[in-house]
Amino acid sequence: MKAGVPVEYFRDTYLEINLDHVYHNVTNLIHNFALNTTMMAVIKADAYGHGAIMVAKTLIEAGIRHFGVATLDEALELRRAKINCPILVFGGIRIGDLIVVQKHHLTLCIHSEEWLNRALDSYIGPSIDVHLKYDTGMGRVGITDEVTFIELFEKIKKCKQFKIKGVLSHLATSEEMDDTYYQLQISRFESLLEKLDLKGLHVHIANSAGSLKPIPKHVNMVRIGLFINGIRPASHIDLPFVLKPSLSLYSRLVQIKSVPPGVRLSYNGIYETQKNEIIGTIPIGYADGYDRRLLNGRVYIEGYYCDIVGRICMDYCLVRLPLAFKEGTRVELIGEHVTLDEYANKINTNNYQATCQFSDRLPRIYYRNQKIVKIVNRRLMTKIGRIY
Ligand SMILES: Cc1ncc(COP(=O)(O)O)c(C=O)c1O
Repeated sequence: MKAGVPVEYFRDTYLEINLDHVYHNVTNLIHNFALNTTMMAVIKADAYGHGAIMVAKTLIEAGIRHFGVATLDEALELRRAKINCPILVFGGIRIGDLIVVQKHHLTLCIHSEEWLNRALDSYIGPSIDVHLKYDTGMGRVGITDEVTFIELFEKIKKCKQFKIKGVLSHLATSEEMDDTYYQLQISRFESLLEKLDLKGLHVHIANSAGSLKPIPKHVNMVRIGLFINGIRPASHIDLPFVLKPSLSLYSRLVQIKSVPPGVRLSYNGIYETQKNEIIGTIPIGYADGYDRRLLNGRVYIEGYYCDIVGRICMDYCLVRLPLAFKEGTRVELIGEHVTLDEYANKINTNNYQATCQFSDRLPRIYYRNQKIVKIVNRRLMTKIGRIY
């Protein structure tokens, strides 16, 4: 950091996001899908915790022109950051908010007949672009029968308030080895598509794992989230190029002490020292999203794997050290040596959730061309209206 520039975070516990890796992943993905398929980048949930705005800017540099998010707020955050590409909002919109959708030129998903009828009755503003969602087997949102879908598709085409721009569905099991259910969803989707006039429309169903399977008939777009940040939905999934994880998590030891045998450490004393041990304290805890359920976790310090011991606290956790490192020694919690997948397995969840739950107490430090290009510390962004 330059002298005189205010420090933008005040604790040495942070996420590093390597945008060079994002760029690498996405240029390779685009190349991979280049034949007939456009890639929509799914950057909902703050790009799965990586930071939607900085990731989106890198994606645009790499050639992405379509984004998908879950909520209207997420879309508006991108618009305020001057991301002007088409943004599809997957989640439900309150009818009263359609005016906001229109004002910001966002695209929405229509999931139900009831919603469409209510919107047609009460929205009188200028036309909004929409994609119509078919539920082929995910079971959460979408129109479940073909006949109703076709009726609604025709109704939208005739109405003034909405302009149909796409047809979509969502896969429930794309990362599983057994593809029976996947095939069932694809055949339901293809059967519907056969009956529609799809000229000029985006047609999409595949997520990251699904995008590696043969592209179904009529489909011309893929919605990719996880791969962007170099993460695989399952370990058996192979890509035709190397994915590079973009996220690492670091801290620094804040205290080191020698502890005799028989001392119980941290809340509930679930760990007891067996001999003379050197215990380090790392200033990260579950308030940062470092999960309290972590058991048998490990971190990497100066060439050594070191076991996390005792309960993870709100702001701290403890680590057994092989030698008395100095206060301030850097700790890798997730990175080159301790993978995100290892950490996610140990907290009994998947890598999607593990990154989403890193809280905004962790500053995000962004690297591009191997240099820090941005530090985002949301806790200190208090001025209303300021987004970066
Ligand atoms: C509707 C929708 N499309 C696409 C995706 C992207 O999935 P993935 O991250 O597996 O690529 C998601 C993610 O959950 C989603 O909800």
